[in-house]
Amino acid sequence: MNKSVYQLVAATFAVSLVTASSERCAKSEVRKLPEKLKLGAATAAFQIEGAWDASDKSPSIWDTFCRVPGNVKDGTDGNDTCKSYEYYQRDIEMLKFLGVDYYRFSISWPRVLPTGFANKISEEGIAYYSKLVDELLANGIEPVATLYHWDLPQSLQDLGGWTNPLIADWFEDYARVLFDALGDRVKSWITINEPKQFAIFGYGMEYFAPQVNSAGIGDYMATKNILLAHARVWHLYDEEYRDTQKGICGITIAADFCEGASDSPDDIEAGKLAMDFEVGLYAHPIFSSTGGFPERVVKRVAEKSAEQGFPRSRLPELTQEEIEYIKGTSDFFGFNHYSTSFYTEKTYKSGMYAVPSYSDDIGAVAVGDHERYEKPTSSFTTPIPAGIRKSLNWVKDSYDSPEIMIFENGFGSYGSLGLEDNARIDYYGQYLDAVLDAIEVDGCKITRYTAWSLMDNFEWSFGLSVKFGLFDVDFEDEKRTRRPKQSALWYRNLIASRTLNPDDNPQLEDIAF
Ligand SMILES: *[C@@H]1O[C@H](CO)[C@@H](O)[C@H](O)[C@H]1NC(C)=O
Repeated sequence: MNKSVYQLVAATFAVSLVTASSERCAKSEVRKLPEKLKLGAATAAFQIEGAWDASDKSPSIWDTFCRVPGNVKDGTDGNDTCKSYEYYQRDIEMLKFLGVDYYRFSISWPRVLPTGFANKISEEGIAYYSKLVDELLANGIEPVATLYHWDLPQSLQDLGGWTNPLIADWFEDYARVLFDALGDRVKSWITINEPKQFAIFGYGMEYFAPQVNSAGIGDYMATKNILLAHARVWHLYDEEYRDTQKGICGITIAADFCEGASDSPDDIEAGKLAMDFEVGLYAHPIFSSTGGFPERVVKRVAEKSAEQGFPRSRLPELTQEEIEYIKGTSDFFGFNHYSTSFYTEKTYKSGMYAVPSYSDDIGAVAVGDHERYEKPTSSFTTPIPAGIRKSLNWVKDSYDSPEIMIFENGFGSYGSLGLEDNARIDYYGQYLDAVLDAIEVDGCKITRYTAWSLMDNFEWSFGLSVKFGLFDVDFEDEKRTRRPKQSALWYRNLIASRTLNPDDNPQLEDIAF
């Protein structure tokens, strides 16, 4: 990865490697959770299932990605990971142990439709998800299913994947198969997880599958098609399934907060522009009252494209008809959040990022490590709890206070922290405290909070080297034995007492799943 790519990635994930004590820090008061707030835990198919070629499953773009040496930082791959395809019942036991209200999982498109198309439905693929759903329900856990969490069938990528406008047809066909097969039992559907992450990193860069590396062009083409494909599936659900199945359907967007690196007007403006690029580009077309891409982004990409000699903007236009078709197509704002980045134009120079590119279009530098914040532990996600409250308020104020479902929040560490993962408990305690402020003080309508992740798993191009789990997984062990970290016991207590007690310090228990 070249230096500027690394900078972007580092900034996006707000990576920092600073040491601090493993002591728990002093916290806020004990607080009751609001009655309406449901609590859950999340995973994604490629990150946990393994069984990459079980039955008639075909390869996904992430199987392909993992085969290229050097793509995954620690040289691991997704072939087996947590073996949840085999051991899903243990995952359900863990969820039951935690006492969660719901489980957010994702469905592997190439496992269900081996050709990528709906001409051939895998009976075993459907049977797997059907059993998972049945057993979740039998244990009193609500299934929340994501249709697309990044593992596109390779066969569809060979035809352009998300840059081919026909993806809207293919995605609709795939969704229909699942609404038909599982919609009698699954009542909460997420169409697409984090459009920015796979559009920019996968189509604009080489950092994620499918490594198209068409910066400032392919990523924007994918963005438009992702929005249209999402909207198509929402309309399908709305028109053909909602009346009988009575569920909800929406999108989930990464909403890390962007703010100015200082209080200077230029930096404040850079923070706002970055927020429009990072979150608004995907959210504005769906959630704003006007629809379409954010004005700041349209203007900036058009100007840069003209300067660069392009006869038209690299950001494809949305027609008035498309704007209307996409607007309002989500029953909730699915909100994923990990950290905050700080932007400045002061140190930005033309040519420091690829030209053209998304980063160059933003025209500001993201400063991951900000002096204002102390950075604890060997952290992948810098804990800046005030940022989640700001981001939740940004969504509330920008989009007329939609219902917000937090579908990912959690603490990633480089390497294992061991079972006594105090830094993770600190993170959850501080972030939940900020979420409660957003609900109780600011009036954000937040109805779900989801811990990412149920267990350590395959963290994309970081492989197994970055760990987000409440449960530790022994990847050396054939059985992939899972053990609750202290954070799992803390989360269990939070759910059982419906009380946030940041100083709760549960004793480790000798349990394995
Ligand atoms: C994963 O599967 C691929 C394809 O069969 C194979 O080349 C690779 O060696 C496997 N990885 C491991 C760790 O066995």
